[in-house]
Amino acid sequence: MKILAFETSCDDTAVAVLEILPKNKVKVLANIISSQVKLHAQYGGVFPSLAAREHAKNIDKVFRLALKEAGLKSATEVDLMTVTAGPGLVVSLLVGVAFAKTLAWKYNKPLVGANHLEGHILSNWLAPTKESSAFNLKPSVFPALCLLVSGGHTELVLIKKLGTYEVIGATHDDAVGEAFDKVARLLKLGYPGGPIISKLAESGNSDRFPLPSPMIKSKNFDFSYSGLKTAVLYLVRDLPKLTAKDKADIAASFQKAAIEVLLQKTIAAAEKLKVKTILLSGGVSANKLLREDLAKRIAGSLKKVTFLKPKLAYTTDNAAMIGLAGYLNFKNKKTASSWKAVAVNANWGL
Ligand code: KG4
Ligand code: ZN
Repeated sequence: MKILAFETSCDDTAVAVLEILPKNKVKVLANIISSQVKLHAQYGGVFPSLAAREHAKNIDKVFRLALKEAGLKSATEVDLMTVTAGPGLVVSLLVGVAFAKTLAWKYNKPLVGANHLEGHILSNWLAPTKESSAFNLKPSVFPALCLLVSGGHTELVLIKKLGTYEVIGATHDDAVGEAFDKVARLLKLGYPGGPIISKLAESGNSDRFPLPSPMIKSKNFDFSYSGLKTAVLYLVRDLPKLTAKDKADIAASFQKAAIEVLLQKTIAAAEKLKVKTILLSGGVSANKLLREDLAKRIAGSLKKVTFLKPKLAYTTDNAAMIGLAGYLNFKNKKTASSWKAVAVNANWGL
């Protein structure tokens, strides 16, 4: 079975082709992403109406590239189509959904909507392009806990079995990726902030500026990032001059504070809920310090717990993860599979 998947929930126009092989194996035949980073950089964040316009301009080209990369002549050769229906920016989602609906109608193919967050969680089971991986997740994997960290979400999700998600903690205000982006803007470093800050932090002193890790002592599994961002704002305001050394030290100090609370809450939740697996996902899961330190803490205090993290190529937004989420919806008949039934839901939670 071949699946054509579309993702346009934010500022990446992405199209992928997946092949489902016997024994629940999946192969990514194509995973094309057209980034709009350069366009949005001048605003220090995503400008929704511009993002939608760019998606509309590029989606056909990205779709054709994906077919070519997958060795397909036309969309008649796929068996299922899937598209991110939410959550995300409504104007961006609408472009992908309209495009996918038109194709599904034209080629008379089933179309299912997929949840962007479920896609991020499932990205843990995707192999690099042209390689295959198994996703028939045995009961021994569950219960699992996923730390889902992106530009729009910071959540701890309990997965009792595949497809059953319970959000046990979430941010009260900003998402952690958003905090990376806003701090990068304060330091005039560019957009998106995550990769720039983590790179700069490597040469900085993370002990120079003690910054708060909000809610680190709270007894629940919730998060808050607006106070940390404001602390950086005051720190920058009160420095006599912002030197390159100051920027690197602030980047390192901020990153340490932002990551520490994620590490402590994930470990505490995993202990309390006695999970068998910890998963990491979302754009911030590309962060080197988070990937390395979470692995170390799990190895140190939760020896029997398996730790999975997505391949770097699947940490930030992509359509391959949407292919897998859509396939599982289709297989489990979780959603209708007609283009007529697919509708954007910008606030679609897990
Ligand atoms: O999942 P994603 O691509 O889009 C959303 O669904 O939001 O996540 C994008 C976010 C951005 O805020 C970006 O700054 C952050 O992920 N990010 C990182 C890193 N790479 C991307 N944050 C920290 N460290 C990174 N290396
Ligand atoms: Zn995302």
